[in-house]
Amino acid sequence: MKITVFGTGYVGLVTGTCLADVGHDVVCMDVDADKISRLEQGEIPIFEPGLSTMVERNVSSGRLRFTTDAEAAVAHGVLQFIAVGTPPDEDGSADLKYVLAVASTIGEYMQDYKVVIDKSTVPVGTADRVTAALQAKLDERGASLSFDVCSNPEFLKEGAAIEDFTRGARIVVGTDSDKVVELMRECYGPYNRNHDKLMFMDVRAAELTKYAANAMLATKISFMNEISNLAERLGADVEAVRRGIGSDPRIGYQFIYPGCGYGGSCFPKDVQALARTASQVGYEAELLNSVEAVNYRQKTTLFRKLSAAFNGELKGKTIAVWGLAFKPNTDDMREAPSRTLMEAIWEAGGRVQAYDPEAMKECRRIYGDRDDLVLVADQSQAVRGADALVIVTEWKEFRTLDFNWLKDQLSLPVLIDGRNLYEPDAVHEAGLMYYAIGRGESL
Ligand code: UGA
Repeated sequence: MKITVFGTGYVGLVTGTCLADVGHDVVCMDVDADKISRLEQGEIPIFEPGLSTMVERNVSSGRLRFTTDAEAAVAHGVLQFIAVGTPPDEDGSADLKYVLAVASTIGEYMQDYKVVIDKSTVPVGTADRVTAALQAKLDERGASLSFDVCSNPEFLKEGAAIEDFTRGARIVVGTDSDKVVELMRECYGPYNRNHDKLMFMDVRAAELTKYAANAMLATKISFMNEISNLAERLGADVEAVRRGIGSDPRIGYQFIYPGCGYGGSCFPKDVQALARTASQVGYEAELLNSVEAVNYRQKTTLFRKLSAAFNGELKGKTIAVWGLAFKPNTDDMREAPSRTLMEAIWEAGGRVQAYDPEAMKECRRIYGDRDDLVLVADQSQAVRGADALVIVTEWKEFRTLDFNWLKDQLSLPVLIDGRNLYEPDAVHEAGLMYYAIGRGESL
């Protein structure tokens, strides 16, 4: 099948590559000429396990091509995926300018029937706006051509995007056209072999499904963070509580890990955007607002504990930070709790000595060169000469730690763990103070 994907960011690149990998003929289009030329040379702009070899394999077989030529891109596919960015506006709603620009481009160049597929996370009602933008261009041209617009949201986790695309729980398609149903069945057929994962529904339901899924997951996390704050104050171990409630299949074990707040490009943006959509239709989404407020507060918890451990005196102190990415297996630092922590340390006059297996380049890009930020080559260098250690991201390599060694490195025996990686008793045995999330000492 001939397929065009607009946008070679995270979602577009994974979508285009995975579809090429099962034999489709895919053209990925982007307006960023530099990005396209780097992709053509096999340089992948994002860190995603497995993606680079998959791109290479499909480029060399000729099934995956990259272009900046919009006209050729529109001419190529009967399916036209829109996978461009939807950055948040100042008021938290999703900015659709890139999505609508692609719709206009398709309207400008199309010569035959197209299915336009909203893959980007877009507010409910966007398909109607895409239809209007495309139709306006056709009218301008005086062209009478038919097209359909459908919604096909992505459910990809960074770090596991290929797995999620190829073996995801469901493929949601919002459409009222039988022709689109047929074409989307053909497109996803190779990934839909063992049981039927395709769910067809109306367009608005599909658009809302995406937001509802992310908002539900964010709610689980904020709920658990709230319980962890309570557990801490009540002297209960939240990890026991987590196991206790997770064993109920109605609750489940997933996404109830307490931590230092959710980050990334999706949950914060999507919860805000859904709350904004709600207020636009005259509904105050109290639960969503609280999910966000709890998360905002949770991101400050590591600094609060750190500051309390030093009696508010962080000036001149060197704090080791393990983990900068918002979660393991990515170099993404968007909305990462590490940023809230480091910025607060700097504000208080402290220095940061940080290590992350993937996100150091990104950290340098965000913060540039500054005296109070030292990025070091490994985790032991980060604690050398430091006053305390804070763990922000649960990279696998942080899971085993020689607590006696750590105590010798730090001037104050303080370990602050934003991901509950260790057993408090084992940490205490080495004579360290252990401040975790909803367990260990309370501060
Ligand atoms: C999320 C969703 O999980 C995907 O299904 C969705 O497709 C994607 O957003 C999107 O909308 O594109 P992602 O942001 O990559 O994926 O990351 P997650 O693995 O979901 O983690 C999000 C945040 O929640 C991280 O900061 C993580 O540390 C935190 N988290 C997760 C917790 O604090 N506790 C948990 O139990 C689980």
